[in-house]
Amino acid sequence: MTGAAFPPRVFSGIQPSGNLHLGNYLGALKRFAEAQDRGVETLYCMVDLHAVTVWQDPADLRRATRELAAGFLASGLDPARSILFNQSQVAEHTQLAWVFNCVARMGWLQRMTQFKDKAGKNAQNASLGLFAYPALMAADILAYHATHVPVGEDQKQHIELTRNIAIKFNTDFAVDFFPVPEPVIEGTGTRVMSLRDGEKKMSKSDVSDMSRINLTDDADTIARKIRRAKTDPEPLPSEAKGLKDRPEARNLVNIYAALADLSVDAVMQEWGGRPFSEFKPQLADLAVEQLGPISAEMARLMQDVTEIDRILGDGADRARAIAAPILRRTYDIMGMVGPREV
Ligand code: TYM
Repeated sequence: MTGAAFPPRVFSGIQPSGNLHLGNYLGALKRFAEAQDRGVETLYCMVDLHAVTVWQDPADLRRATRELAAGFLASGLDPARSILFNQSQVAEHTQLAWVFNCVARMGWLQRMTQFKDKAGKNAQNASLGLFAYPALMAADILAYHATHVPVGEDQKQHIELTRNIAIKFNTDFAVDFFPVPEPVIEGTGTRVMSLRDGEKKMSKSDVSDMSRINLTDDADTIARKIRRAKTDPEPLPSEAKGLKDRPEARNLVNIYAALADLSVDAVMQEWGGRPFSEFKPQLADLAVEQLGPISAEMARLMQDVTEIDRILGDGADRARAIAAPILRRTYDIMGMVGPREV
C-alpha cells in the first residue's frame, strides 16, 4: 500500500525554538515554497507543541512562533495558497497523537536517534513528551492524510516511524484509511553542516553562533561567518568526487549549489581547482543576496504581530476543517461512540 491512492497533499512543520538558520531555509522553507508553487495543496505548521517537549520560556515561545511565521511568509509562502498555522490551535493533532501513542510500540520510539541526542546522558530526566514526540509528528502528518513530507535529512527516521504507524493502524483495523506518506528529501540543501565542523549538522542548539547563519543575521555577519568557515588548505577539487573526504569543502559547495539552484557538478565546473580565497567571497555575496531580502521582510512583518496572528488563526480554521472529519472517522474505525461519519 502506498500514498498513490490518495490525492497529493504536502505537510511539513518547523519548531519555533531558537533562530531559523540556513539549514532550515535550504532544507525546508525554500523547498516548501517550491511545493506551493507547483500547485499542490500545502499545509505548513509551526509546531509549538513539539517545541515544549523541552523547556521554553513563554515569552520566547510567543516571539519565536511569530518570527517563524514571518520567516515562512518572507520565504515566499503565501497564506492564500498554503495553509499556515500553529499546531496548538488545532486540537486534532494532540487527539490523534493519543491514538498513535497506543499504536506505536515502545521499542520503535527507543530507537529514535533524535531522542537519544536530545535526552543526552540523563534520559530518565527527559520529559515524557520528548519520548512520544514522533507519535505527535505522525499525527501532524496523518491528521491531513498528507502524502508527501518535505524535510531535511535529519527527519528521515521520524517519517519512517510515521509510515510504520500508518501501516500498523491500517493492518490492525483492516482498513486502507491512512496514506503511507513519502519523505521528500531532495537536492543539495537537505543536510547543511556546521560552518565550524563539516561532520556536524548546522543546528540552532549549537553553542557557537559562528557555526550557523541565522536568517536574522545582517550582511556583514553573514560575510564574516563564511569568511571564517572552516576549510582545508587545498583548493577546490576539479570534480565532485574529489569532495568525498573533504566535509567542509563539500558543505560549502552544497550550500552554494542550493542557494544558486545549481547541481554540484555545475558548481564544480565553474569553481574546480580554484582557491577558497576566491570561492568564499562569491558564496558570501550569494548568501547575502538571497537571505538579505528575507531578513528585511521578516523584520518588517514582525512590526505587525496582529496581522501574523490573524494569518495563523485563519490557517488554523482551514486546517481544522480538514483534520476534524479525519479524526472523527479514526475514532469511528476504532469503535469510539460518537456522531456518525457523514
Ligand atoms: P526542526 O524544527 O528541527 O527543523 C525544521 C526543518 O529544517 C530541517 N533542517 C535542516 N535541513 C538541512 N540542514 C540542516 N542542518 C537542517 N536542520 C534542520 C529539518 O529537517 C526540518 O525539515 N520534527 C521536526 C518538526 C516537525 C515536522 C512535523 C516535520 C514536527 N512535525 C511533521 C515534518 C512533518 C523538527 O524538529 O524540525
